[in-house]
Amino acid sequence: MEFLFNCKLIKLMGGGNLNSLVCKIVFLFIAVLILRAFLLPQNLVFMSKNVSSYGFVVQQQKFLEVPQIVWGLNNQKIAFARACLTARMLNRTLLMPSLSASLFYKEIDLLQPISFDKVFQFDKFNELCSGFVQLGRYSDLLNRTQVVELQKGSGRKWTVQRDLDQLRQYKNGSFDDIEVIKIDGKNPFLWHDHWPVKDYAKVFECLVLVDEFTQEADRVASMIRKVGSHDDKGNSFQNYVPYVAVHMRVEIDWTIHCKKLEQRLNTNQICSSKNEIMERVGNIEGLNKNQVVLYLAVADKLLQNSSILEGWKEGFLPFEKKKLGVDKIYAKYPYLIQSAIDYEVCLRADIFVGNSFSTFSSLIVLERTQKMIKLGVNEMCGSDVRWPSFAYNIKGELNGPMRWVTNMSDSSLHAISYGTNHISC
Ligand SMILES: *[C@@H]1O[C@H](CO)[C@@H](O)[C@H](O)[C@H]1NC(C)=O
Ligand SMILES: *[C@@H]1O[C@H](CO)[C@@H](O)[C@H](O)[C@H]1NC(C)=O
Ligand SMILES: *[C@@H]1O[C@H](CO)[C@@H](O)[C@H](O)[C@H]1NC(C)=O
Ligand SMILES: *[C@@H]1O[C@H](CO)[C@@H](O)[C@H](O)[C@H]1NC(C)=O
Ligand SMILES: *[C@@H]1O[C@H](CO)[C@@H](O)[C@H](O)[C@H]1NC(C)=O
Ligand SMILES: *[C@@H]1O[C@H](CO)[C@@H](O)[C@H](O)[C@H]1NC(C)=O
Repeated sequence: MEFLFNCKLIKLMGGGNLNSLVCKIVFLFIAVLILRAFLLPQNLVFMSKNVSSYGFVVQQQKFLEVPQIVWGLNNQKIAFARACLTARMLNRTLLMPSLSASLFYKEIDLLQPISFDKVFQFDKFNELCSGFVQLGRYSDLLNRTQVVELQKGSGRKWTVQRDLDQLRQYKNGSFDDIEVIKIDGKNPFLWHDHWPVKDYAKVFECLVLVDEFTQEADRVASMIRKVGSHDDKGNSFQNYVPYVAVHMRVEIDWTIHCKKLEQRLNTNQICSSKNEIMERVGNIEGLNKNQVVLYLAVADKLLQNSSILEGWKEGFLPFEKKKLGVDKIYAKYPYLIQSAIDYEVCLRADIFVGNSFSTFSSLIVLERTQKMIKLGVNEMCGSDVRWPSFAYNIKGELNGPMRWVTNMSDSSLHAISYGTNHISC
């Protein structure tokens, strides 16, 4: 659901140029401000008002402000992490950015800003990421006039190196007195990347949903296990019912776009049809084929057509939100929250199967790989691991999907943010 016409796809499809009309409108909308520097002498008088929620004088704090974060949940997570890592590089606290509740792709009016702390736990984030990156609130600011704007460059001539040089320049001591550096221009998802996968992973680990949404994910996951604990005669089975989550990318928008992508990249490993997905998932080794509970994570609008529930091998019990009776839970929330709940449900699945060209799938696999690493799993591609993941768009053993883990020593997140068929197993 996060893929519809976003700029990433436009980039992938449209010949690699980000200057698509849609993207350009967004950039123009937020990038009209002029670079101004208020290099006034710092007021060293200590303020009597104390905003010391962090236990030190806020006047000594320096902040980074970034543009509103937009598009799909995963684009937003990556953009947020990139903003954090930029702040870390500048040795500044990131001012809590706005996320976007709606899946924006055409109308700027529908951007629907939503504060970060409405979605993720603010204090928990700072606790978990303490000493690595830090978030601040606008109320922590003392003097809003001490703002320097940093205009992000764009276009082909704006290379990774130029971007890095610019950041280094703003790290330079001459900006020490400036309370806020405000980055202007394109949204952080489109910034050049300078950080390794493990730095992103560290930021993702600190993102914990607020309790309300975690509880909704708990409800959905327990519904899935509940429906799997009875057969159709009402006999109940063991207490713990494992489930397989399948992130099915079969929506019509995706199908059109992924075909173009396949052409461009000269591959046939991106678009899996419904039948191919069913076939490969049905061939996963080691499943108890008498009773396999499947949660099909699909975009809402597909729910009108229940055909994704049909055609699975015998013993497979497929559910989507409607059949599970949880569509009303989702309907209460805007796009971003629905997506975040679905993400949690896939994260908790005993087995996850996704598409390696999907950022949603890729981030889930990244987090599941981290879980494995924490458990001390050595052979993460082995057949008997906890938290296994698979990519159905690539054929693996026995005509099943390919085993999939994230390469945590990769030097950039590029593969994850744009999709890949190199999936480390
Ligand atoms: C904010 O900073 C400017 C420039 O340093 C200074 O002139 C002004 O008095 C400050 N305002 C407050 C409320 O501290
Ligand atoms: C500063 O904060 C502390 C506790 O947060 C409070 O007790 C104290 O009165 C405050 N000082 C001023 C000058 O506001
Ligand atoms: C960041 O700033 C703090 C406080 O100003 C300073 O103690 C620390 O050494 C700085 N860290 C880096 C990496 O520059
Ligand atoms: C900061 O920038 C100024 C002007 O560009 C330069 O003269 C100075 O050496 C730089 N300082 C550091 C610590 O890099
Ligand atoms: C719904 O499912 C049927 C049966 O598989 C299929 O023929 C039809 O094209 C689907 N409709 C839409 C709108 O996808
Ligand atoms: C992981 O990434 C590193 C660094 O790019 C590379 O050297 C290594 O071969 C990769 N490992 C796998 C299994 O792809």
